[in-house]
Amino acid sequence: MSYSAVILAAGKGVRMSSDLPKVVHRISGKPIIIHVVEAVINAGINELIVVVGHGQNKVREVLADYPVNFVVQEEQLGTGHALMCAKTRINHQHNLLVLAGDIPLLQTKTIKNLIDFHNTEVNDATVLSTILENPHGYGRIVRNDKEGFVKIVEEKDAINEEKLIKEINSGIYCFQAGLAMQALDRLNTENAQGEYYLTDILEMLKLEEERVGVLLTSEATDVFGINDRVQLAEAQAIMYARKNEELMRKGVTIVDPNSTFIDKEVEIASDTVVMPFTIIEGKTVIGTNSEIGPYSRINDTLIGAGVIIENSRIREAIIGDSCIIGPFAYIRPEAVLGAEVKVGDFVEIKKSKIGKGSKIPHLTYIGDTIMGENVNVGAGTITCNYDGYNKYETVLEDEVFIGSNTNLVAPVRIGKKAVTGAGSTITSDVPSNALALERATPKIIKDWNNNK
Ligand code: UD1
Ligand code: MG
Repeated sequence: MSYSAVILAAGKGVRMSSDLPKVVHRISGKPIIIHVVEAVINAGINELIVVVGHGQNKVREVLADYPVNFVVQEEQLGTGHALMCAKTRINHQHNLLVLAGDIPLLQTKTIKNLIDFHNTEVNDATVLSTILENPHGYGRIVRNDKEGFVKIVEEKDAINEEKLIKEINSGIYCFQAGLAMQALDRLNTENAQGEYYLTDILEMLKLEEERVGVLLTSEATDVFGINDRVQLAEAQAIMYARKNEELMRKGVTIVDPNSTFIDKEVEIASDTVVMPFTIIEGKTVIGTNSEIGPYSRINDTLIGAGVIIENSRIREAIIGDSCIIGPFAYIRPEAVLGAEVKVGDFVEIKKSKIGKGSKIPHLTYIGDTIMGENVNVGAGTITCNYDGYNKYETVLEDEVFIGSNTNLVAPVRIGKKAVTGAGSTITSDVPSNALALERATPKIIKDWNNNK
């Protein structure tokens, strides 16, 4: 059965107290609405319509790379009106998944369950519900013994007895599109908020003896909507907790889940240990038997097996097997480290290739460099890669030994097994096996201090 989805995201989100529309605020590095869009796409729906209004340019901007169509709701007259705005863009033969754009914890499996239920029950409308201990603010599912589902009543329209109901409307629905569209035409605004309530069409369809069902999910956090920054932080905490649990169940040790913050898409192989106060973001992939942290922040980096990273910042890099990084290293984009490389304290590496077994143990800047295997870089070495206008390359061939406090003024090439003397500023190429020294003859003035 073909499905299209409509995501309602035209509201302002007043309680965020923000210049940005609510759905572009970020959780785990991604705008809220992207989490929703990805969950829908992963459920196998590829026709997506997003209803935009407030701050629509920003919403369009964050969704630019996603296969979605937009419809504009100029005035926010309610959720029913928002869906009406998509009417001409919807295939009336399809089934429709309708949901809000502010529920980032919604999981693909929950969407699939709803769709499966809607299909197997051959329903015309199905609403996803859950039980909340504190249902305040949500619409309530009203049922009776005879007919089952009766209607959804909003908090503001509910009588006291209805307010006691703990089964709430998630705001996630499946509809037979044509029937839903016909029902929308008959909506009115006779309610406490003077809005077109999408929820009313379920009652209408039920009264018209169409098949209306409720799927009660135990995944209560899935439907958690973000309305303010307190809820934003709560949702973020739930997302991190879910990720930590997923990884621990797959064999990753997370020493202190409360101080470990890992984004949804990160992959970590089993028997790797993540130490406290560590943030792993974006599309990072980490191999087996590594030890990451404590106190490290890593994003969009490929890390091999048996790697040790302590107290370091790593961005958009590749780290080979058995490397030892830190403490206090800064590894920047396009750094590619072969296996068994050591990068020690206060070392910065940018856009450089470091060959297997090379060591850069302390206080060094390596930029725009091609380094061979088993090179040793002494403390305080700087590749001088920038003349104020352009960047230049440094090449260190295999087994080079760079003395402490060497300045390598690029472009420069140091041949295989060559050595530079400590304190040298190297401005021209050095052939293989040579020693390059650049020092003034020392002046030693004897007894300098005797008469003072
Ligand atoms: C809605 C439901 C309520 C449910 C709750 C779940 C209605 C009438 N009520 O209430 O039963 O428990 O969601 O979270 O549907 N939007 C538009 N245009 C509008 C109004 C809203 O695009 O004119 C969008 C909002 O941006 C938001 C979504 O629709 O993403 C839900 O709107 P919101 O105002 O948050 O509805 P609730 O009052 O939470
Ligand atoms: Mg809401």
